[in-house]
Amino acid sequence: LSISPFIASLPKVELHVHIEGTLTPALRWNLAERNNISLPYETFEELKASYAVTLNHRPELNGRQPGIPTFLEAYFAGCEVLRTEDDFYDLAMAYLHRCAEMNVRYTEPFFDIQAHTRRGVPANAVLNGYLRAQHDAEKQFNVKSQWIMCFLRDEAVEDGLAAYHEARSWAAGTVKGGKGLFHAVGLASNAYERPPMLFEEGFSLARADGLHVTMHCDFGQKDTHDHINEAIFEVCGGEGSERIDHGLDSEDREELWRGLLERNIGLTLCPHAYHRRTATDVLFPKVRRLLERGVKVCINSDDPTLMHDVWIDGNMQKVYTYCGLTKTEMVQLARNAVDMSWAKDDVKSSIY
Ligand code: HPA
Ligand code: ZN
Repeated sequence: LSISPFIASLPKVELHVHIEGTLTPALRWNLAERNNISLPYETFEELKASYAVTLNHRPELNGRQPGIPTFLEAYFAGCEVLRTEDDFYDLAMAYLHRCAEMNVRYTEPFFDIQAHTRRGVPANAVLNGYLRAQHDAEKQFNVKSQWIMCFLRDEAVEDGLAAYHEARSWAAGTVKGGKGLFHAVGLASNAYERPPMLFEEGFSLARADGLHVTMHCDFGQKDTHDHINEAIFEVCGGEGSERIDHGLDSEDREELWRGLLERNIGLTLCPHAYHRRTATDVLFPKVRRLLERGVKVCINSDDPTLMHDVWIDGNMQKVYTYCGLTKTEMVQLARNAVDMSWAKDDVKSSIY
């Protein structure tokens, strides 16, 4: 599917992208060399080829093919080459430069802190690298960003809280002396038997600091409807999450999609991520039905380099083509992302 000039030139906002999921094989290769890390691949071609065989993340299936990592195993394996502040800076600058090329004007990337601190990388290397990129990309590429710190939901809740306390002085919101890197918390990684309510304390800490809250409810996960129900009606002292990342399974149940409408909770969808394992004529009618019911959704990439190099523009092209939307409807989807974002009003109006 090639990207049409119309999609390429649309001004875009991206609200669901994991910065670690934008690490290209080329940058990974270079960072491995720079940091004297040996990768389990003899050649760059072999490394590149390894990106094509990542299975969908199904941790409940133990009988998977040996040697082929699950999606999240591949994602965290990629992180291994990220060691120094410059590595995180280079990763972020590469993505933000790509944003400029795709006419993404503003983005709210997710970052994992625990994925790095648990390997012995100091939190300040991660945070200062991203902070420097946030400033430089705005100046050099005119791409603005406000970041989202994710709790790793398959790690102990206490570890997430500790990570939050470490990261807190890089926050925006009402944090005194906060450096302004991130303005929200999210919930990512393996959702298997890890419902959102386990992290209620983390969400309330963040809210007390004036930060926003969002959380993943991955498509097709075990207990996905229960997780979505918690995200809409139970978390944040019953007020619900401000957005839901994915949440496509809400389409199956009227009480869920009505809940999204009533509470004005938007979904950050990543169509290509689902399309990898869902038939076109099942997936895109599902997205269409959500749109027809008036659920607010926006289109994003998730982990583009681990998902066949399909970025936000490729995801938009898929929806445009396979949902059979008009140009006006596509413009509305692009505007939904502006509305759903937590950008300041002047930033929003500069994109709109
Ligand atoms: N799901 C959950 N957590 C993640 C993902 C994902 O697809 N990518 C990076 N962290
Ligand atoms: Zn995601």
